[in-house]
Amino acid sequence: MTLVYDSDSGVLNVREAFLPDTKPIKLINGETLAGTAPRVRQQLHEAAKHRTKPEIIKILTIISSVVSVLADTHRLGITHNNINSFTILVTKNGKGKLSGWHLASRFEREEATRNSGQSLIKDNLAPLQYIAPECTGRMNRSVDYRADFYSLGVTLYEICVGFLPFRSTDPLELIHQHIAQQPIPPHEINLTIPVVLSTVIMKLLMKNAEDRYQTASGLKADLDSICKRLTKNEPLDTTKVGELDDTSQFIVPEKLYGRGADVGKLEHAYEKVTKNGGCSVVMVSGTSGIGKSRLVNELQRKVVENKGYFTTSKFDQYKRGFSFFTLVQTLQDLVRQALSESATSLHKWRVDTSKAFEESKDAGVLMDVIPEIKILLGEGYNFEPIVILGPSERENRFKSVFIKLLAVFARRGLVVFLDDLQWCSGSEVNLINTIIREAARSGSGDTGAMQKILLIGAYREGVVCPDHPVSGMLDFFRSATAFDFLNEGPGQRSNILTREETKVEVIDITLGPLDQDSVGKMIGDTLHRIPHVLNIEGSAAGPDMQTLTELVFLRTGGNAFFVTQLLKSLHRDGHIIFDFEAKKWRFSLSGVDAEGLPPTIVDLLVQQMRALDDETRSELIVASFLGGIRIGLDMLAWACGKELEETADGLWGALEVGWEVYGPVAISGANPIIGRADTADFL
Ligand SMILES: Nc1ncnc2c1ncn2[C@@H]1O[C@H](COP(=O)(O)OP(=O)(O)OP(=O)(O)O)[C@@H](O)[C@H]1O
Ligand SMILES: [Mg+2]
Repeated sequence: MTLVYDSDSGVLNVREAFLPDTKPIKLINGETLAGTAPRVRQQLHEAAKHRTKPEIIKILTIISSVVSVLADTHRLGITHNNINSFTILVTKNGKGKLSGWHLASRFEREEATRNSGQSLIKDNLAPLQYIAPECTGRMNRSVDYRADFYSLGVTLYEICVGFLPFRSTDPLELIHQHIAQQPIPPHEINLTIPVVLSTVIMKLLMKNAEDRYQTASGLKADLDSICKRLTKNEPLDTTKVGELDDTSQFIVPEKLYGRGADVGKLEHAYEKVTKNGGCSVVMVSGTSGIGKSRLVNELQRKVVENKGYFTTSKFDQYKRGFSFFTLVQTLQDLVRQALSESATSLHKWRVDTSKAFEESKDAGVLMDVIPEIKILLGEGYNFEPIVILGPSERENRFKSVFIKLLAVFARRGLVVFLDDLQWCSGSEVNLINTIIREAARSGSGDTGAMQKILLIGAYREGVVCPDHPVSGMLDFFRSATAFDFLNEGPGQRSNILTREETKVEVIDITLGPLDQDSVGKMIGDTLHRIPHVLNIEGSAAGPDMQTLTELVFLRTGGNAFFVTQLLKSLHRDGHIIFDFEAKKWRFSLSGVDAEGLPPTIVDLLVQQMRALDDETRSELIVASFLGGIRIGLDMLAWACGKELEETADGLWGALEVGWEVYGPVAISGANPIIGRADTADFL
């Protein structure tokens, strides 16, 4: 297997080989290829490439050899990240080869963060038409090898049908389609595609990685079986898709368990605020690791589906240098989202933003902290010089400029998620307070100026005590009346609106531990078993799922983070193993000393930390001293006094025990980042 492929002259990619004369499909008035409008369907039928049986066999042979390569690389923990019709090449003897390895990464799971999501065009070098929904950074899901299957699904769709399942010149629209729209099954557009092949493609294109193929070998088995049957002229309808897709990868699913009612509350609050305008506040509290951040981020998908805006930022215990740092990050994130949209919508943003600063002409105040504002306002925008002011006037001016820009986004419907509010300072609370008041005030004004903000905060229970600035602010809003904040000065009584018209609704969500049922489902999904089936076939002598569930639940108390960590640790220590002969996960708890299991998440993490070798441990210790949520490899190497490569080598030890190190591409020496986030907080 060669990881780097220098393309021979004369070698075609699959696009050149199978789609030499593709004509663009004309879409009008916001029609999409996934749409069901009869005019679009008609066009699609006409544009579809009729495939003969020998052509389909050829395509399947090429894809099957590419899947063999993926089987090897996935086993080595390498994800290709760049599968598309340009990187799959056709050799002279009709086999497939995979090029484009420069984006490959060697991680169990990478987190596609909002940061990579919003500046998608810049950071995501793979063509947007082929990237999996979770790679957009807007799915609340991390990225693993199964993203390759989605990209392969898009490619296979394209070469079988004749065009891509999702196509738009607007990047945001494309992201929306990947996340929210179902592609039309290939056999419905192109009658020459066998239904079973269409089913394989649709399985590859599932939005959730858990619903796609789980192994390249399972996929290859299906492709080869279809190919064989076609060659032998055997009927295809008996082929069962996914039958041999064994599930030998140990993956704790990234589904959200046991939080249906809480997601419902968030969605309801979002729908209400987008419909009625103004501002609503949702406060999510709970102990560390209980799932606050995970829950709120789940709303992102709904917001993307609605084509709304979602921005998030975390307050940091140690980052107190610039007092509005976290809030500025949320605004910067929004500006970057606007910049990644199509030229037409960027133009609209530009007009709205210029209008917001038309009178005050103070947009330049934001230049130092959000340099992108210059691009947003455009080349020709004339920034007025900034007047030097005293500290408190400067702070007030900054707040007013901040509010003006935020309002531009809020008029289109906005969710602002402020995580770890317990680390928020008094002056930041003040600014949040003003954001809420302004949005509430605008909600009662004319509709053109109306803001729609859902402000969600998450904080650790017990850390936000009654005298914390956040408590004061919430108490104020819980008891505030329209009079309180609309009538701040004398003589404004005529503008008073009723309390009902302007009240800021504060909704509290207190997260408790997951119940045993949810923990059981989580374990069942990880091991591909039904949670409460006793004495599973073939493991009569071993403990059953119920025992495992009870053990994990008892030990973790239903803390989601502890559950995932404990399961991973049982797998690493060989108590949960995959039986390749029976193609089933088995667990043997006979060797587990239940009493010896770490009683708390802290003990588990300390145990993991102790198991690391000295070099890895010392790098992690230096990283924890550096502080900050994310630390770049170059910074860590500098702090450790080591070369980049040497530092990266040291980090593999942490990766092997499941510590989070985020991409991109460590093996090429680029810039991996250590996530201090969850785990370090416990230590
Ligand atoms: N309902 C759930 N179902 C499955 N996994 C979950 C659930 N809630 C949380 N998790 C997982 O548990 C881990 C911790 O969750 P999360 O980071 O949201 O906790 P948190 O409450 O925000 O903690 P902290 O206060 O430390 O920020 C994450 O890996 C997350 O994916
Ligand atoms: Mg959190």
